[in-house]
Amino acid sequence: MTLQATITPLPDKLVSQIAAGEVIERPASVLKELLENAIDAGSSSIEVRLQGGGIKRIMVSDNGHGIRPEQLHLALNRHATSKISSLKDLEHVGSMGFRGEALAAIDSVARLTITSRTKTCEHAWQFNSRLSKPEASSGTTGTTVDVRQLFDEVPARRKFLRTESTEYTHCSQTFSRIAMARPDISFRLFHNEKLQRNLPATTMMQRISDVLGKEFAAECVPVDNNHGLINISGMISRPTFARNRADRQFLYVNGRYVRDKTVSHAIRQAYADVLHGDRQPAFVLFLDIDPSLVDVNVHPAKHEVRFRESGAVHSFVSKTLQSALEQSAIESGLAQSPVINNQHPPQTYGSRHAAQSSLTLSDTSATSNKSWEQIYKAEKTHQEDIKVHEASRDQSEAMPMGFAIAQIHGIYILAQNQHGLIIVDMHAAHERIVYEKLKTAMQEQNLSVQELLVPMVFDVGEEYVSIVHEYSDELLNLGFDVSPTGPATITLRSVPALLANGDIETLMRHVLDDISTIGTSAHVKEKQNELLATMACHGSIRANRLLTIDEMNALLRDMENTERSDQCNHGRPTWVQWTIKDLDAMFWRGQ
Ligand SMILES: Nc1ncnc2c1ncn2[C@@H]1O[C@H](COP(=O)(O)OP(=O)(O)OP(=O)(O)O)[C@@H](O)[C@H]1O
Ligand SMILES: [Mg+2]
Repeated sequence: MTLQATITPLPDKLVSQIAAGEVIERPASVLKELLENAIDAGSSSIEVRLQGGGIKRIMVSDNGHGIRPEQLHLALNRHATSKISSLKDLEHVGSMGFRGEALAAIDSVARLTITSRTKTCEHAWQFNSRLSKPEASSGTTGTTVDVRQLFDEVPARRKFLRTESTEYTHCSQTFSRIAMARPDISFRLFHNEKLQRNLPATTMMQRISDVLGKEFAAECVPVDNNHGLINISGMISRPTFARNRADRQFLYVNGRYVRDKTVSHAIRQAYADVLHGDRQPAFVLFLDIDPSLVDVNVHPAKHEVRFRESGAVHSFVSKTLQSALEQSAIESGLAQSPVINNQHPPQTYGSRHAAQSSLTLSDTSATSNKSWEQIYKAEKTHQEDIKVHEASRDQSEAMPMGFAIAQIHGIYILAQNQHGLIIVDMHAAHERIVYEKLKTAMQEQNLSVQELLVPMVFDVGEEYVSIVHEYSDELLNLGFDVSPTGPATITLRSVPALLANGDIETLMRHVLDDISTIGTSAHVKEKQNELLATMACHGSIRANRLLTIDEMNALLRDMENTERSDQCNHGRPTWVQWTIKDLDAMFWRGQ
């Protein structure tokens, strides 16, 4: 428990250097301030009691160091704080609070009463701004702040409050965000006397799972990278678990929940190759950085920070996440197999979705994990160094994807490898391969282009004609030699050779569609990979095409050589492995 420090008024000059502004907008903002104070007091247990969505009452009790009775009135003074006393302190601030403003701001728009007892006091003391001095009261060590009738006397503000249930939802989100960052503290939340959340102190991973649910934790991969001055830990979703909404994105900098453009961009970049379009990754990330390298005094509500070395932060975050995603791709693709046991009856494998959701990394697969990882690594070396091959390795070991046996329903390829059966979604797999090839070709600036024997002319409408007009250079760069030849028609003379066998008209239309949503030409460059993903999707083998065994084997070899070939560009998996052990379990063999 941290020691109770003395609350003192901040010097005027420092006051003027602190980001000022009103921070109390709604019950959730009161709750945030009170929870942060309870955390700063070194509490190990915090309890929140709300009435009427927090509009009627917000009460936060903690078991922290408390406030001495003679200091209670200072806690309600504007610009009086125990957390910093100089500009130097502000530059290294480690506490959540530092402005000495929150309680005063709350007190000016509601009825606030504070009851506190330090370890050395014989009983608690209570104070509010309507009293001239503190009064004796009952209570254990710690502090309770009771806030009632928010905005009762500020009708202009009250008007902006929503229904009790909406305000409660905001409070509950605030509670979750704050609790997630402090698994070492136990938190409880009551609404209208009913217990809503009970979060005992635990580990970081368990707290994330307690707050966001077990499914979330199961679909995520852990992230942990320490670099001395900057450390990152937490969980990020596998691309297969991406969402349509950005509602599960939690970023903390030094324990503070913030929104930050640098880090958001770094995260998007890490997912760029495995998430399509508007799909959103989910993450809980704790970035810990030397306090002197980050400025928290940017926004009065402390929602934002400023990094001294934002370039370094960007590259650290994006590299760490990228390698976590690659690692998980190796593990989930090459080692994860459906876990078959009594909780997962065999019939669930009939549905694609069920098969996916049961792809969890189990302890029993840990050994096969390891060997697969080795094979994968060995296979990589093999491609670089032919000598490894001469060391007479078992052929099936050198070909992790095994050999094609058959194609079913024109959709899936079945292959046998050393460990059992592999099922490949051929369209998704091919799409991934084409995408990687296009990307490499673009990077190396040698995208080969195929001239069309007969130029194609088609009607696209005036809007797309103007896009062709405006972006003809960018299109040429992507391999499309296309120009307007009428008010609503365009003529296409060449396409990227890799895509020449697909449905060219649909391909062209989708690329134009993408460009029209992307907007400016600066963006077209930035979003090039998304365009390549669209192109790959339309240039790949469609379902219902019959392949020969040789063609299927060629696809399997291509998959082995393609980075991240286990996920298609939309984040869907491209293949799954059923080991002999899984198959045995399905048939109750050896049970
Ligand atoms: N729960 C608590 N336990 C112990 N001390 C508290 C508690 N809440 C407030 N205090 C004391 O009251 C002071 C004023 O709190 P207040 O929230 O107004 O300002 P702050 O936390 O210092 O800065 P900020 O305005 O940025 O939150 C704190 O500096 C702290 O010393
Ligand atoms: Mg505070």
